[in-house]
Amino acid sequence: MNISIIGSGYVGLVTGSCLASQGFNVLCCDTDTEKISNLKNGLLPIYEPGLSELLKNCLATGHMRFTSDLADTIQHSDILFVTVNTPAMEDNSCNLEHIYKVAEEIAYNMDCYKVIVHKSTVPVGTGRKVKKLVSDILAGRTSELQFDIVSNPEFLREGSAINDFMNPDRIVIGSDSPRAVNILKEVYTFQLEKGTPVLETGIETAEMIKYASNAFLAAKISFMNEISNICELCGADGIIVSKGMGLDTRIGPRFLDPGPGFGGSCFPKDIKALSHMADLLGYDARFTKCIMETNTCQKVRMIRKIEKAVGSLQNKVITILGLSFKPETDDIRESPSISIIEGLLEKKAIIKAYDPQAMENMKKMYSQHQIKYCSNPYEACENSNCITLLTAWQEFSCLDFKLLRSIVNSPIFIDLRNISNPSLVRSYGFYYEGIGR
Ligand code: UGA
Repeated sequence: MNISIIGSGYVGLVTGSCLASQGFNVLCCDTDTEKISNLKNGLLPIYEPGLSELLKNCLATGHMRFTSDLADTIQHSDILFVTVNTPAMEDNSCNLEHIYKVAEEIAYNMDCYKVIVHKSTVPVGTGRKVKKLVSDILAGRTSELQFDIVSNPEFLREGSAINDFMNPDRIVIGSDSPRAVNILKEVYTFQLEKGTPVLETGIETAEMIKYASNAFLAAKISFMNEISNICELCGADGIIVSKGMGLDTRIGPRFLDPGPGFGGSCFPKDIKALSHMADLLGYDARFTKCIMETNTCQKVRMIRKIEKAVGSLQNKVITILGLSFKPETDDIRESPSISIIEGLLEKKAIIKAYDPQAMENMKKMYSQHQIKYCSNPYEACENSNCITLLTAWQEFSCLDFKLLRSIVNSPIFIDLRNISNPSLVRSYGFYYEGIGR
């Protein structure tokens, strides 16, 4: 079966590579010609565990091909996965320019029945608008060609996207057309045979499931961050509180880890878009807005935590371990590290940083004059006045504290991900601060 992927970003590349590895003939398209020529040689624009190997295998078997020719991509298959980006606008709405442009191109270039599958996160109602746009253009072409729209939101997490695609918790297929639903079920045969639940819904409902899921997960984090802050003030241990809550099957243990605030390209953007959507509908989504406010406050609170431990930050060397918004990715979009570094720089601190994957991306935002980028955690900790752990990379969970104690200026260790053992850290003479304890 042929499959077309329109948009070779993170979602398109993971979706395309996984489908190609299952034997589908996948043609991936992108307007960025340089990206496409790199991809043809197996060079990825992002770091995602396992993706490089998967892509190279699929290129070798010939199941995965790349092109910049959109018309060709549209004609390659009946199934068009639309995975273009929908970035946030100044007013928090979603920029749907690419979605509509692709819809127009499909309408002008389609030569037979097509299923247009929206994987990109789009505001509720977008599928319906695309349906009208394509129908209007086809009517102008006096064409009898048929098509269907499907909302099939992705629930991939950066860092574990391949596993999330192959073993999803659920597959949501939002469409008015039984024909389109059956085609999508064929695409997901591998997952369905393993018993993955499928939810067949209307288009709008599927679009909303994506926003509601991301907002709810972010709400869990913001709530836990708030509880942790209260724990710090009243002497309770936030980690054990989280465990105690998570054991209740109605709550569940996941996404209850307190931290410096959530980041990434999805949660902040989607929550803002959801509130914006509600505003347009005349509903003030106060709870949703509060999730973001709590998150912003959490990042500010982290700066105060560092200041409280160090005193005046002027000319103090602050080590930042971890720049990406979470481990196993080089993505720094909306990373808490950015706001925290910004706050520290405003207070005239000297920043030394290390991250296993994200330093190249960070260098595009902060030059080597603003941040001293180091080649390993120990170089970053030399002469430090405070080590601040911001991303839970595996290599930060087994630091050599004896060595660290011998190279720092003042022994202060702030673990904003709670991945180190407080008594071990203290046993080497460090002042330790975690989060929520
Ligand atoms: C998120 C969702 O988890 C995916 O299901 C969804 O498909 C994706 O957005 C998307 O919309 O494309 P992702 O942004 O990759 O995935 O990252 P998450 O693993 O959800 O983490 C988001 C942020 O929450 C990170 O900054 C992480 O450190 C933070 N977090 C997560 C916590 O602070 N505590 C937790 O317990 C869990």
